Amino acid sequence: MSTSSPSQLRTTAFAPRLAALMDDHTGRDVFRLEPDTVGVAGHEVMDRVLAARRATETERPTFKPLQGRSISRADASAVTRAIGQDVREALGRPLPRAVDLSGPWPLTGHYFLRDLILGRDPYRLRLLMSRNLELTTLLTRSVVTLGAALPGWPRPGDRLTVLANRTATAAGYRERRFAMGLYRRTAAPVCFTVSTLVANALWLGAPFDDSVPNRNIVHETLRLLPPSWNLLRNASPEYPALDSRIGTQDDVLLLPLLSHRDPALWDDPELFRPDRWDELDPDDTPGYLPFGHMSERCWGRHMVIPLAELLLDLIRTSGLVVDPGQRAATVPLLGLLGVDEVRLTHPARRP
Ligand code: HEM
Repeated sequence: MSTSSPSQLRTTAFAPRLAALMDDHTGRDVFRLEPDTVGVAGHEVMDRVLAARRATETERPTFKPLQGRSISRADASAVTRAIGQDVREALGRPLPRAVDLSGPWPLTGHYFLRDLILGRDPYRLRLLMSRNLELTTLLTRSVVTLGAALPGWPRPGDRLTVLANRTATAAGYRERRFAMGLYRRTAAPVCFTVSTLVANALWLGAPFDDSVPNRNIVHETLRLLPPSWNLLRNASPEYPALDSRIGTQDDVLLLPLLSHRDPALWDDPELFRPDRWDELDPDDTPGYLPFGHMSERCWGRHMVIPLAELLLDLIRTSGLVVDPGQRAATVPLLGLLGVDEVRLTHPARRP
């Protein structure tokens, strides 16, 4: 299977600190990053660190405390199940006709998913999915505060998504503020992460050969551009006991970004080769941790993969192409790793 053509014509520029991290540490297992932080990219040490204890509530990516309140495991699990039902319902519905996914990605995919999954929710809730809210927490706070205070709070009922129905049961200003924050915390990752993942896939490999399954494209994209490129564990007595290079005061930064390119683990580690997943099991491949460790793997992965496959299907059957004039993209240093913009266009009509 061809692995070369499109991606070799495209240049991916990683933010300088990411590039330095990859240049200096790929293939190493444990190394010092800061006076109080040790990096870990060796698959055996990663396994041991992640298995040593559960992530605390401030280390978890999704359900960190909100508005000064802890989110209980029961609440986290209930809202994740709610969005899961909404995603399943959206996937079971006939797709909107005449979908046009051309434009800048991941933005275009983000808004498509928002409308597909949450399209029937009231404006004050859908507004929480605006990408502009990433710019400042102040802006997010204002939108949440206003939304909770304004009259006309949504009433539970059939026309809302399951997630919005939970939100609608909140009574009183404080509870409504919290419920809006939780709506955003739960729904945003679906649209943000899936559109980022698909933008990464398009950049790395489009156009894809017809014989390549979407599932393999997704796994290989998660390898080379894992949206969750690092996992943080704060200093803890378990860690120095596992490896003497980790001090008692050291935080540990686990780096799937590096283990996914370790030449000791992968053939042609820098090449986008979806066919490698014909043979590999993504749940049991050493050093491959796009959704975290098996002891507490991402709760959202069962939504992420089918949604990414749906988007890839729509794009692959639409004839859209990555703008042939786009030869470079950057990968900024952000919590969610991805190319900043990929332009999808209709192929130029031949005369
Ligand atoms: C491309 C998409 C996604 C990727 C790559 C991803 C990756 C990860 C990773 C690496 C972890 C483990 C973190 C750690 O151990 O510190 C994790 C945990 C988790 N993820 Fe995801 N995730 C994605 C999307 C989602 C979505 C859409 C949801 C839910 C709506 C979600 C919910 C969670 C939850 C609940 C956890 C458990 C830890 C927590 O309480 O935050 N993820 N995810």
